[in-house]
Amino acid sequence: MAQILGGVLTSHVPAIGGAIARGLQQDPYWRPFFDGFAPVHRWLNSQKPDVAVVFYNDHGLNFFLDQMPTFAVGAAADYRNDDEGWGLPVMKDMPGAQTLAWHIIEHLVAEEFDITMCQDMLIDHAVTVPFQLAWPGVEQWPVKLVPIAINTVQHPLPSPKRCLALGRAVAKAISSWESDETVMIMGTGGLSHQLDGERAGFLNPDYDRFCLDQIGPNPDALTGHSAVDIIELAGSQGIEILNWIAARGAMGATVHEVSRNYHIPISNTAAATMLLETDAAICVAEAA
Ligand code: DHB
Ligand code: FE
Repeated sequence: MAQILGGVLTSHVPAIGGAIARGLQQDPYWRPFFDGFAPVHRWLNSQKPDVAVVFYNDHGLNFFLDQMPTFAVGAAADYRNDDEGWGLPVMKDMPGAQTLAWHIIEHLVAEEFDITMCQDMLIDHAVTVPFQLAWPGVEQWPVKLVPIAINTVQHPLPSPKRCLALGRAVAKAISSWESDETVMIMGTGGLSHQLDGERAGFLNPDYDRFCLDQIGPNPDALTGHSAVDIIELAGSQGIEILNWIAARGAMGATVHEVSRNYHIPISNTAAATMLLETDAAICVAEAA
């Protein structure tokens, strides 16, 4: 059966992609954020996952307000990035993990999640920025992708509880996939930020710390707030924590924290990176 290794939770601020394009990783503004990826690079180098299942939110590139699925699972052969208006270079296509994607889709529908399945799907900065951070400068992306988009944009939003349940159902699907491939999970977005309106620039380090402390050992603690509570606590885009909650569910029951980095601000965002691993990853590291 396929093994879940754990994975990476990270902010996906588009300006990070701009900093990468201009080679500013060592610049004093950017360095405290990029330094948080050194342990991630070491971990990926030793684990070499085959597939990345990525929980993220689309920001109007593939889905807009006229057609907004609550949960959308990609089942494409490959995923194209496109210009979203942030002035970022367009990334090369990402290969899809189609067999696993259909296995996840079948499992989720059997578990009564009414998902949208997408055989054609554009991916935006919420996937490309975390990929560039994880595998800087690669010629070919070293993993195949299963993208899972969660609506964090148009009300009504899914509840944190439902997102955690979705992630847990994805973990069950991966664990029942008859394959010797290894799977890492990513959750992108957050932490606290609000880009527009009266509270533009709002950040909440106390709530962010609560999330960072609880998400590994006790993810259910994050479901005590409703989606609207989280918008009050973390800002209207801080609700992207839903992607982290689902991703944590997809890592399985127990994870160990390998590293975390928290830095305020990157652009308008309290930027964070966290690496969590499962016992399966520890076995891979011991066998190497
Ligand atoms: C910013 C953060 C985001 O999550 C996003 O999707 C776009 C912009 C920002 O802080 O600039
Ligand atoms: Fe975002």
